[in-house]
Amino acid sequence: MSKIATLEIDGNKYEFPIIQGTESELGIDIKALRGATGGITTIDPGYKNTGSCESAITFLDGEKGILRYRGYAIEELAEKADFLEVAYLLIFGDLPTAVELEKFSNDIKEESHVDEDMKKILDGFPKSAHPMGVLSSLTNALIAFNPGSVDVASEEAMYDAIVKILSKFPVLAAWTMRKRQGLPLDYGNDSLGYVENLHKMMFARPNRTYRANKIVNDALDKLLILHADHEQNCSTSTVRIVGSSHAGLFASLSAGISALWGPLHGGANQAVIEMLEAIKRDGGDVGKYIAKAKDKNDPFRLMGFGHRVYKNFDPRAKIIKSAAEEVLGDLGIEDPVLDIAKKLAKVALEDEYFVQRKLYPNVDFYSGIIYRALGVPTDMFTVMFALGRLPGWIAQWREMRLRKEPIGRPRQIYIGERNRPFVAVEKRK
Ligand code: ACO
Repeated sequence: MSKIATLEIDGNKYEFPIIQGTESELGIDIKALRGATGGITTIDPGYKNTGSCESAITFLDGEKGILRYRGYAIEELAEKADFLEVAYLLIFGDLPTAVELEKFSNDIKEESHVDEDMKKILDGFPKSAHPMGVLSSLTNALIAFNPGSVDVASEEAMYDAIVKILSKFPVLAAWTMRKRQGLPLDYGNDSLGYVENLHKMMFARPNRTYRANKIVNDALDKLLILHADHEQNCSTSTVRIVGSSHAGLFASLSAGISALWGPLHGGANQAVIEMLEAIKRDGGDVGKYIAKAKDKNDPFRLMGFGHRVYKNFDPRAKIIKSAAEEVLGDLGIEDPVLDIAKKLAKVALEDEYFVQRKLYPNVDFYSGIIYRALGVPTDMFTVMFALGRLPGWIAQWREMRLRKEPIGRPRQIYIGERNRPFVAVEKRK
């Protein structure tokens, strides 16, 4: 029997249906609230209690530390699938057959050419520009080279646009890094897989034969899979809300990249390493920084700790922690920053402040350590996150358009001045 929620305001009762998801999650459907109550709205800054959509892409249970893409456990996907398979799964709903995967991979390779004029735009940025800003701008600039909005009613047009961006995005990301380092741009190599090719485009030297490294490749693949989607987080909600105005896919993605950049979201992976390095430079006194994080008069926060949804553990952090140890071991790297990270995690996990507030290491706490081991510059960490999140953003954008969701336009409660008469400039005090 379907459940009903009753709201009472000034003695008047209003009933709202409760909808149930496939994992038994309940949500009060308040679509009729304003109409029924004569304009009363809800207020929920940061949307801590607000579901913005129904979605069939990713399920996460923050209390139990569960994360599944299209019903598949993240642990299993990270272990057994590769990034392109996961991208296909997220976007189209099912794991691809061997034939579908080969076609998908070939179609992506076919689109890997980026218009040479894009280089002029890249050249316009100073070397000091943050890669996330450059990547967001270049993604937006792609629209100029691929004009015309995607016909969302056509599966074929949708597929073409998806393949195009999956193909060109790694090129733009790698070029952003190389430009910053003063290296000639690399065009990749069609004979390599998606992740291997990304690595080549980032790291191949003009005077050296590029050699792929399986450990590095596998670690990158895993990291990208773990970042591939996370339901209605800040950047994904941004992509959906920008796309809800029927702005195109690339424009919506460009906005998502900007949202991801912030240190409270994807920018945290860069902030974590900067914090760990600062602790190291300061003599490695972990206790001092724990105290700072707990001090309400100190703006310092332990970066890489806490999550809006995970209140038990972040399953991605668990996988990445062991992957970090494995990669560093395999590559024979000893990183004092990893030791500081481990100490910090141990102290924080036992400290009452963190335990009470359910603040656990999140995905970004360990990912930066692997990126460092792989030779990725610190300011490229969030770009790596964006590369992983791309299929998730695309899947969410596609779902939003196919479900014909209305334009995203929240309400507010106005708390400003009431009606004021205009005062001429010479009479203002
Ligand atoms: N260090 C110290 N205290 C913290 C931290 C932290 N990292 N995170 C939360 N708290 C405290 C808050 O001060 C607050 O304490 P109070 O109840 O005494 O006022 C309490 O824990 C709840 O914090 P909120 O900010 O209300 O939690 P919210 O869900 O809004 O924020 C967020 C989640 C943004 C992730 C937060 O934990 C944070 O800033 N973490 C550090 C940045 C980070 O690692 N971001 C990456 C998130 S994962 C991702 O985007 C991929």
